[in-house]
Amino acid sequence: MSLEAEIRSLREARDAVLLAHNYQRPEVQEIADYVGDSLYLARRAQEADRSVIVFAGVRFMAETAKILNPGRTVLLPDPKAGCGLADAVTAEQVRAWKAEHPGAAVVAYINTSAEVKAEADYCCTSSNAVKVVERIPAGQEVLFLPDMFLGDYVRRRTGRNLHLWVGDCPVHARLRPERLAAARAEHPGAPVVAHPECGCASEVLPQVDRVLSTDGMVRFAEETRAPEVLVATEVGILHRMRRLNPGTTFTPLDAGAICPYMKEIDLADVRDALAELRYRIEVPPPIAGRARGVLERMVAT
Ligand code: 13P
Ligand code: SF4
Repeated sequence: MSLEAEIRSLREARDAVLLAHNYQRPEVQEIADYVGDSLYLARRAQEADRSVIVFAGVRFMAETAKILNPGRTVLLPDPKAGCGLADAVTAEQVRAWKAEHPGAAVVAYINTSAEVKAEADYCCTSSNAVKVVERIPAGQEVLFLPDMFLGDYVRRRTGRNLHLWVGDCPVHARLRPERLAAARAEHPGAPVVAHPECGCASEVLPQVDRVLSTDGMVRFAEETRAPEVLVATEVGILHRMRRLNPGTTFTPLDAGAICPYMKEIDLADVRDALAELRYRIEVPPPIAGRARGVLERMVAT
């Protein structure tokens, strides 16, 4: 039996749903029930009525699923699927930062641990960060963490004077202005779409055509009639873009922008996760209880 057939059969036997992020390997995306960005997948996890949620993504996404839908068994097929950005801040560091700014609102990007979310007042993803910050009462100080490039982008979009944590995503931080300038020269006229985690946001993002979450890029791909589009994010997204619009050439701004954490999971891991019900994600109830409110507000925004 092929791995795909094994997964389909085990998925039924376990009463499971398979969620996959846009950066997952093409073959994992192909067999998933739902593929999307962090916000879309958090919503699908919250609504899931199957007994088991297999999360082909990274740990913070699986933790989010468990917090939003605690009655389900949530599996991360490879425990090494972490996130370099989420590792950039600890709950203890957040507590110390809050102590320096009493009364400030803390906005945690979804790319954080459950412990960090438990310290936050708001949570956002790349697709609703601007909206979330716009809702914070004017005049209240805001601490934004952990991605300084996304934070800088939100600061310019909202005009709010955010304090930014100095953290970045190792994959997106390497997408620099020099690379953008070279790509523009090599592909004249091609529009550029970029993820807001891209490095040197204040120099790169004002020069691109659209700043989008990964699902925003997928929608752009469906609609564009441009012969070529330059894509500034992790290369896993190209699979869906090319599949949805074979008439356009989608070129990565940096073909080396590969997230090692997202690539940890392969089809054999998904099969083994279903067969052995591993690796179960558990979030301690006091942490989950404190993080649930901010996550529920995030999925509703
Ligand atoms: P999206 O929510 O846009 O999919 O981004 C998640 C992520 O990890 C980007 O690096
Ligand atoms: Fe984390 Fe960056 Fe990988 Fe996204 S691309 S999961 S932010 S390390």
